Amino acid sequence: MSNQTKSEQASIFLDHLGDSWYEINKNDIGKRDPISDLLDKEPINLGSVLEVGACNGWRLVKLRAKYGCTVVGLDPSQLAAKDAADKGIEVKIGTADSLPWPNESFDTVILGFCLYVVTPEDWFKVIAETDRVLKDGGHLIIWDYTTPRSFKRKLNREAHLPTFMYHVDWPVAWLFNPMYRKVSEHFLAGCSEMVTVMKKLKSAPMLEMATEQK
Ligand SMILES: C[S@@+](CC[C@H](N)C(=O)[O-])C[C@H]1O[C@@H](n2cnc3c(N)ncnc32)[C@H](O)[C@@H]1O
Repeated sequence: MSNQTKSEQASIFLDHLGDSWYEINKNDIGKRDPISDLLDKEPINLGSVLEVGACNGWRLVKLRAKYGCTVVGLDPSQLAAKDAADKGIEVKIGTADSLPWPNESFDTVILGFCLYVVTPEDWFKVIAETDRVLKDGGHLIIWDYTTPRSFKRKLNREAHLPTFMYHVDWPVAWLFNPMYRKVSEHFLAGCSEMVTVMKKLKSAPMLEMATEQK
């Protein structure tokens, strides 16, 4: 997808904000990893893993070493993708609204604290794209802010840009669909964050209303 068809916020991240965010935060990312903490307690079969918003691939390095899974990432920051490549991890340049992989490519898709920087006009695209690339029987893992009431605020240090961060109850966007069910979750009360693991099952039972016989 060319940048002309991208939302303004995704274009800004691809253009420069992904890199500048990475420059400022690269020494801090990875200090907390509630996704791995939850997987330690409640393991799933990771198989082939895509992390969307993978940054420099630090989590993918860990998961590959621990579980022997195949891993790949996506991030708008060219600098982060280059650092990932230096660690032997492929991180493609892009944003969550358009995933450059064929249908049903992955057993696990991780949205690792990146939804909060996705603009509302891209939300339905992200839901459709993650569903498209996730295999039947696969898992979707979301780590992000959680809140009973959605709100937005300006991105820190970027008050001059039209960029916002969003606090939303993200998993409901998938869980309304009977194909998705919650497998496990962990609420980090001190920071209002949630890790949610969901399983996709196309054959999930759905109530079927009997057809009236005339
Ligand atoms: C808070 S960091 C999280 C990095 C990593 N997943 C982790 O858990 O530490 C958010 C990442 O999302 C990326 N990002 C920003 N906008 C994005 C978008 N629209 N789609 C995918 N990733 C995005 C940023 O470049 C950044 O690397």
